[in-house]
Amino acid sequence: MLQALMNLLSLCWKPLDGEDIGGGGDFARDGLLWSRDIGRCTSGEFSMAVVQANQVLEDQSQIESGPFGTFVGVYDGHGGPEAARFVCDHLFRHFQAISDQDRGVATTETIRRAFLETERGFTYHVSNLWNTHPNLATAGSCCLVGVICQQTLFVANLGDSRVVLGKKVGNTGVVAAMQLSTEHNANIEEVRHELKELHPNDPQIVVLKHGTWRVKGIIQVSRSIGDVYMKHAQFNREPINVKFRLSEPMDMPILSATPSIISHPLQPNDSFLIFASDGLWEHLSNEKAVDIVQSNPHAGSAKRLVKAALQEAARKREIRYSDLRKIDKKVRRHFHDDITVFVLFLNHDLISRGIGQDPPLSLRSALEH
Ligand SMILES: *[C@@H]1O[C@H](CO)[C@@H](O)[C@H](O)[C@H]1NC(C)=O
Repeated sequence: MLQALMNLLSLCWKPLDGEDIGGGGDFARDGLLWSRDIGRCTSGEFSMAVVQANQVLEDQSQIESGPFGTFVGVYDGHGGPEAARFVCDHLFRHFQAISDQDRGVATTETIRRAFLETERGFTYHVSNLWNTHPNLATAGSCCLVGVICQQTLFVANLGDSRVVLGKKVGNTGVVAAMQLSTEHNANIEEVRHELKELHPNDPQIVVLKHGTWRVKGIIQVSRSIGDVYMKHAQFNREPINVKFRLSEPMDMPILSATPSIISHPLQPNDSFLIFASDGLWEHLSNEKAVDIVQSNPHAGSAKRLVKAALQEAARKREIRYSDLRKIDKKVRRHFHDDITVFVLFLNHDLISRGIGQDPPLSLRSALEH
């Protein structure tokens, strides 16, 4: 293990001499909103914020920065927080172990394998606890990961979180919004098309229910970690809740855990990245979010985005933002979802010099609930 780490250090990155950048640090808290205004990481600066709406926070997230580069993860859980927490505890470790074997270099393949290992681990966890906690079989998580290694950005996504790049256009001072992630929500026509192609003999593979397209009339996302009741017939039976049980036998997995992955060679006009769970994008367009980040100081960017989304959520329901803020968790869920935002400001000087962060930074939204 140590040897593998040393190999990684010497092959991929030079440790930073004696300079203390980042690490530790608490979140500031304001009611149901937690935030870190600004911090430093291997690839530049980051800003982070989370607002809770559910009784138990279902969003989890992390930023890891060290000799390997920078890793950002946003995990939007559903059916309880367990799958998202499991991903937060395991995905990055799998990623590190697998890229160690690959001489410390991240590739689309190392990231894909880290996702599949995490899915395998969670499925094993569910089967171990089936007798005492069968409801784990209906917990799942969307999973958005961004990795910056050797001047390349990798984006891997399962579900409907999103990352948007703010890209400078020439010397105009304009910053354009470019969505980098592919989403897997049945409300998107191509996703319904993909599902129908994969399940040609199932006319009920997507069903419109109360104005929302759902896979088998049950779940909105077509890819996730967990939701094993939609992947393995052995978990689609009593005692899971009847609303999750399929009436016909499942002869192949309905949901998949294979992420969509892209690699993007970073260019000097790539200015910042906004990673966020679906809760943000429900209320803010890509362009609006990029505009807010672009026209304000770096510090507090993530919190500013969350507040803009909450103001929009309040406006839609015709209440004042100041009144929305007084509504406690659980009831809040009627107004908006849990929201997680990371803004990563790219420093191309740091990125091109390939200087790794030492000591590493590891920040997780392991918040009190
Ligand atoms: C960004 O820079 C690259 C070259 O570094 C150039 O090809 C591209 O057109 C630029 N994009 C924009 C939007 O200005």
